[in-house]
Amino acid sequence: MKDSAYNFDPKELIREALSAMKRAYTPYSHFQVGAALLTKDGKIYQGCNIENAAYGPTNCAERTAFFRAVFEGERDFEAICVVGGKDGIPTSYAAPCGVCRQVMMEFCNPETFWIIIAMDEEHYSIHTLKELLPLGFGPDNLK
Ligand code: THU
Repeated sequence: MKDSAYNFDPKELIREALSAMKRAYTPYSHFQVGAALLTKDGKIYQGCNIENAAYGPTNCAERTAFFRAVFEGERDFEAICVVGGKDGIPTSYAAPCGVCRQVMMEFCNPETFWIIIAMDEEHYSIHTLKELLPLGFGPDNLK
């Protein structure tokens, strides 16, 4: 974990992720997740998890945030905050799943993209994508 080198307010992103969590559609797991994705020019895109009766098509909060942002034309990202908990009460840290880490790898520099894993404004940790996805496979591998 690093706690310098970034240039944003983690608490603002935590608040945005907590408010995004309220939009979660989780009739099956009841595990609600919220994400707040910060672009390099300071915009925030929220996302929630959206479950499905067939289970597999479920979309995580992080990917909802990324796909909303990419659709809007965003390509440069600074950080993402993730919060989650049963019935919308974060009692532990919900780290991004492997699929979401791979989606981050598509759009972000693993050494400079920050992932904030939080329970509330007082309890959080900050990691680079490289820490959470070492030796990741990304667009550069196909050049
Ligand atoms: N979930 C997320 O939204 N993000 C993650 O990174 C981990 C898992 C969601 C998917 C599913 O709706 C619920 O949490 C339980 O797995």
